[in-house]
Amino acid sequence: MSAAPVHLQRGGVSVVLARDTDGIPRVVHWGAALGDLGEADLTGLADARRPGVSHSAYDGPRTTGLVPDGTRGYAGTPALSGHRVGGNARAVTPSLVAWDVHVDGDASLTCTSTDDEAGWSVRVGLSLDDAGLLHARTSVTNTAAGDLHLASVLTALPVGAHATELLDLTGRWCKERSPQRHPWVQGTHRRDARHGRTGHDATLVMVAGTPGFGFGAGEVWALHTAWSGNHTHYAERTPEGECLIGGGELLDPGEVVLAPGETYDGPRVLGSWSGTGLDAMSHRFHAHLRSLTPRVRTERPVIANSWEAVYFDHSLERLAELADAAASVGVERFVLDDGWFLGRRDDKSGLGDWAVDPDVWPQGLGPLVEHVTGRGMEFGLWVEPEMVNLDSETARSHPGRVLRGRAAAPPEWRHQQVLDLQDEGAYDDLRAALLALLDELDIAYLKWDHNRDLTDAVHDGRPAVHGQTRAFYRLLDELRDAHRTLEIESCSSGGARVDAEVLSRTDRIWPSDTIDALERQHLQRWTSLLVPPELIGSHVGGPTAHTTGRTHSLRYRAAAALLYWFGIEWDVSRLDEATLAELQEWVALHKRVRPLIGTGTLVHPDHPDPAVVVTGIVAEDRSEAWYVVATVAATATQHPAPLRLTGLDPDRRYRLTEEVPRGIGADLSGAWSGDGAELSGRVIASSGVALPVMRPEEALVLRVVAVG
Ligand code: DGJ
Repeated sequence: MSAAPVHLQRGGVSVVLARDTDGIPRVVHWGAALGDLGEADLTGLADARRPGVSHSAYDGPRTTGLVPDGTRGYAGTPALSGHRVGGNARAVTPSLVAWDVHVDGDASLTCTSTDDEAGWSVRVGLSLDDAGLLHARTSVTNTAAGDLHLASVLTALPVGAHATELLDLTGRWCKERSPQRHPWVQGTHRRDARHGRTGHDATLVMVAGTPGFGFGAGEVWALHTAWSGNHTHYAERTPEGECLIGGGELLDPGEVVLAPGETYDGPRVLGSWSGTGLDAMSHRFHAHLRSLTPRVRTERPVIANSWEAVYFDHSLERLAELADAAASVGVERFVLDDGWFLGRRDDKSGLGDWAVDPDVWPQGLGPLVEHVTGRGMEFGLWVEPEMVNLDSETARSHPGRVLRGRAAAPPEWRHQQVLDLQDEGAYDDLRAALLALLDELDIAYLKWDHNRDLTDAVHDGRPAVHGQTRAFYRLLDELRDAHRTLEIESCSSGGARVDAEVLSRTDRIWPSDTIDALERQHLQRWTSLLVPPELIGSHVGGPTAHTTGRTHSLRYRAAAALLYWFGIEWDVSRLDEATLAELQEWVALHKRVRPLIGTGTLVHPDHPDPAVVVTGIVAEDRSEAWYVVATVAATATQHPAPLRLTGLDPDRRYRLTEEVPRGIGADLSGAWSGDGAELSGRVIASSGVALPVMRPEEALVLRVVAVG
């Protein structure tokens, strides 16, 4: 690159990279598209962003380069750290001064720099995709003698200093991805996830935004670290005025050691900017994740899952009965959950022995698969390949395959341990067992579970999470290569493995073990900050949720699942005719909405009453939209504010109706709710329509169709 700044522009976003006074590249703009800028404009922009020099400070202007670097005076978190064992390199920390910038087209560049004194060569790739999502990745190569022990390789992106609020997510089992919001003050706000999997409490995204930003307003920048092992997201604001959001893998000492010439590629870090709030920010992530799951049809099959229906109560008769009832309401894929394999009569034994249990399934699973496919449904099977119960043939015959850091195994978690996937024998046997199942049975889908954290995980004397995570990816890749139409769901005690890297190899996530419809209203909305709705599994459970004890109407439960990948997890073989008919209506309604879900735009119209949660899906061409309005708390003292629905074309007229499946009475009075209303998209979004007075934990389904 010449000294002139580089302007990447695509998908409504611009990134400008300019050299500082020392020639070090730094991002001077990541945000709104800047249009056609000539060299003079770009140089003007770079100059205008050069800070002044204060007293008692470095003698020249200090800016943070593309790689925040302590040797150049950055006093926040250094992006790179490590140490060398052996060799005679003199410097410890890399100082990257001479940079080569290679520009590839109008939306992609690669910066490389080598510090010979330290023996580090670093590559940072930046590119904008068609939707304006910024892809960044940092790689390190050891260029000197001796081993380079990496401590951290982070990728950080600068955001506007006027972003003074942070939003990140946290959680626990059955409460994944709960938002926490706070002022962005000076210092580092770090969200480390050290679970050996993505984690129930993983933030999913780190968002910085202008005061009061919402789903439909405010300027926001978000970053996602695409990694399913230990990882971090952070936001850092320094006294010098730097504002960065960053992420990367968390490495334990000795976990990644580069021999001379070896390279470490950090995880992909994805950055999404929006000038109009969180929804537009999410759309950039959604477009990317949609492009990663090409094997999946845009219309996801309605699923019935056996878990909360029968748990471990397996028999051909019981499951066939469940499958019959599922088929009768319109289910298209029947998933046999936990409990089918050797010795698995409860959750204390059997993991690791991936052969069908002849005591429960004397003829194997063949007859059930035939029964399911004979009813016109696909068959799916639950597995938890990375885990092992000590009470299993696998653990008894190969105790050395249990991942551990000492003689005693780590504390049990759901009575299970982790299988060391870096042990070649363990990996090969596991792959062979899974391939045998896939070869033998007509399996369209695996629900891939992972029910514990990795604790004291060591392989060959080294911390093992990095290697275990890579081995997991390799296993998925090999199975998918061997079975090219196989779809896989990423489940991990509910939603503890939700990230863009696992979603580049899987086709759906199970966001939580709670299918309580009220909890789901929150959980799904925050999960969809990153994940598009058609990849988020959402099931209709029984009237009383098993995980919370709350009881909801079928209408409320089904409405919560309507706009996502719809499923049923309920013993439908025991339902009366009327309930079955109602459920069938909801499945049919979902199938009407479904063409929009995998291709349309997800919106969350902001409503001033926190008890009202609105979710909508708008067709790509904005000719049609569906909204679910749900109350999630005690009713407010005031009559509800109007509903202002976003996502529509302001210049078109729409007919808005309350859509209720036939035969299901709804007591939702409102001036327009009988015959509907005909209004322009602009009026619906700005003035809104009266929201009928709703009871607590009640749901309303609206359809909006363009007229004329
Ligand atoms: C945890 C999952 O999240 C559940 O959906 C179910 O598959 C159980 N594991 C089975 O053990």
